[in-house]
Amino acid sequence: MDDKKRVCISFIGAGKAGVSLGAYFRSKGLEISGYLSRSRKSAISAAELTSSKAFTALSDLAAASDIIIVSTPDGAIAEVWEELRKCDIRDRIVCHLSGSLSSDIFDGIAAKSSFGYSVHPMFAFSGKDGYFEGVEKACFTLEGAKEKLGEVREIFMRTGNRIFVIDKSKKALYHASNVMVSNLVTALLSIGTESFEKCGVKKEEAIEALLPLIRGNIENIAKKGFPGSLTGPVERNDTDTIMKHLDVMEEDERLIYSLLTKKLAKLSKVKHPGRDQSKLLELLEKNL
Ligand SMILES: NC(=O)c1ccc[n+]([C@@H]2O[C@H](COP(=O)([O-])OP(=O)(O)OC[C@H]3O[C@@H](n4cnc5c(N)ncnc54)[C@H](OP(=O)(O)O)[C@@H]3O)[C@@H](O)[C@H]2O)c1
Repeated sequence: MDDKKRVCISFIGAGKAGVSLGAYFRSKGLEISGYLSRSRKSAISAAELTSSKAFTALSDLAAASDIIIVSTPDGAIAEVWEELRKCDIRDRIVCHLSGSLSSDIFDGIAAKSSFGYSVHPMFAFSGKDGYFEGVEKACFTLEGAKEKLGEVREIFMRTGNRIFVIDKSKKALYHASNVMVSNLVTALLSIGTESFEKCGVKKEEAIEALLPLIRGNIENIAKKGFPGSLTGPVERNDTDTIMKHLDVMEEDERLIYSLLTKKLAKLSKVKHPGRDQSKLLELLEKNL
């Protein structure tokens, strides 16, 4: 894919990720051939937002595209592929956007002389109105056929996004890691603010009051790394305070608190290698 080669990208599934990415790619000068979706209305709206075409037949979409992105929900990718593989897709790059599924879902793609990839945006798209602010900073994780991996990478060289290339056998672990640092953090924040409610602070006020703490912590991690950003009772090896915390918690919270504190203790050991953590670790083990 040299600079002068025209590359047309189409999307099957005009939802949040498909529309936002189409609008983003277009803003970066990539050509969008169009959209096909379950409902014609979605395809037309996406096509209008990206100055492209609303297709009604997969064969027309395939004929007009070099790169076909299946942007349906994960559960529909296999059925879309079953239909797409009936079209002439010779030499086409076929991608999906799922974080957990690998390119193996494009069963028999080599026999169609096409090339399959998973291209996962590490980003949360929440609307299908063509808004893409923040995507520029997102990383995209790729895996798939060796033959055209360079061409898929080239898209992101053009947009300026960072990419990771991983092995397909690692996709479940990779996706679990994404969930761990995003969705599970949501759960942790929710548990924390619920406890504030028990202290008589309204949930909405608690979230607002906690944001500087949360943001400051993330910024510190970015600046100083994990051990360097540690604060709090584990960092101070203050087992008495941790014991008091555990005494006032419900069973589930105690378990989560103890497991995460054990991980913090490991980080703290990196920062303070000579420190004796035996009292703390003994307390945690009793609560696991
Ligand atoms: N949203 C995110 O933050 C995000 C982030 C990273 C990756 N992803 C991945 O992106 C993909 C799409 O997720 P999404 O959040 O964009 O989902 P979504 O908003 O639900 O959009 C999916 C679209 O696919 C269409 N669709 C469903 N079944 C179809 C079929 N059989 N044929 C054609 N079109 C079909 C629906 O179209 P109609 O409107 O026409 O009914 C819907 O608008 C998933 O693989 C997801 O894992 C999403």
